Amino acid sequence: MNDTMRIAILGGTGFAGRNVRDTFEAAGMTVGVFSRTAGCDLLDLPTAWTKLDGFRPNYIVNCAALVGSVNYVTDFAADVVDVNMRINLNVYKIAQQMREVIVVNPIANCAYPGVMDIYEEPGFWDGPIHPSVLSYGSTRRMMWVLSKCYFEQYGVRSVNLIVPNMYGPYDSTNPNKTHALNALIIKFIRAVKHNLPEVEVWGTGKPIREWLYVKDFAAIARRVIEAREDSLEPVNIAQNRGYSVTELVDTIRQQVGYTGKITYNSRYQDGSPKKVMDDHYFRQRFPDFKFTELTTGILQTIKYYRDIL
Ligand SMILES: NC(=O)c1ccc[n+]([C@@H]2O[C@H](COP(=O)([O-])OP(=O)(O)OC[C@H]3O[C@@H](n4cnc5c(N)ncnc54)[C@H](OP(=O)(O)O)[C@@H]3O)[C@@H](O)[C@H]2O)c1
Repeated sequence: MNDTMRIAILGGTGFAGRNVRDTFEAAGMTVGVFSRTAGCDLLDLPTAWTKLDGFRPNYIVNCAALVGSVNYVTDFAADVVDVNMRINLNVYKIAQQMREVIVVNPIANCAYPGVMDIYEEPGFWDGPIHPSVLSYGSTRRMMWVLSKCYFEQYGVRSVNLIVPNMYGPYDSTNPNKTHALNALIIKFIRAVKHNLPEVEVWGTGKPIREWLYVKDFAAIARRVIEAREDSLEPVNIAQNRGYSVTELVDTIRQQVGYTGKITYNSRYQDGSPKKVMDDHYFRQRFPDFKFTELTTGILQTIKYYRDIL
């Protein structure tokens, strides 16, 4: 049935979007990529509408965003709010006019209340976003608000997937943009390549975080579309399994074969000691989904960055 599916991937040139594109194309879906470098600026509503309408998608996977490191979303807080809000407002105006299209939103888990250690869907609104990600996290919360309001007034359907930090191929290598685990992998590959005697890791190494291999996100998005899902209720893409930075560093060190010294610089803040995602609803909705083991995902990621660095 995939030959009838037409999927518009907004931000299909970015980290998540390129992986979604590969997975969908391999599954025989007809895919269109919409981003500025692909000739479609979502801030320009008339042009974006014409381009998307011309493609006639059944689904829109909304991976377009202005995103960066914690420093970036603080230093450019106003731009981050402005651009992301306008992208998402335009996405929903376009979806409203298309009527039958379904929007799939990957909602970054920084939209959860900053004080939560275990992110549980029913607590999504139970507290403010962490101040360090106020600009970006607020626009992720608004994705859910938009999906709900456009459904109530216009019947626009959406699927909201709450996504933890991802790692894997196709991430930017710009230090302001690279996601944390990929940045660590890149650091160790470079240390081996340049024979560096020491690698400094920021923080104490103790904080525990959950990590999702980006191709697992793409596989879940594919399932959602193949099952013709349109449930607004946000669901965590969750394993309920966290890893400390030290565990990540150990795995990467072994896999890249780095034998130099590793130091942890505790002058850099750790943030919250633990952040993982509750998987209760995920297991109900995707009972047989098997996540990629962290060691396998890291190995694949190392192979990718070794080739491009
Ligand atoms: N990466 C993660 O760990 C993670 C975790 C949870 C959720 N997510 C979510 O996944 C989505 C994508 O994140 P990402 O990490 O893939 O970001 P990314 O690598 O920075 O990609 C962003 C994409 O958006 C496009 N874009 C930016 N401004 C645009 C505009 N005005 N018009 C059209 N396209 C525009 C960019 O392409 P051009 O430059 O060509 O325009 C790029 O393709 C975000 O919603 C993010 O919150 C990501």
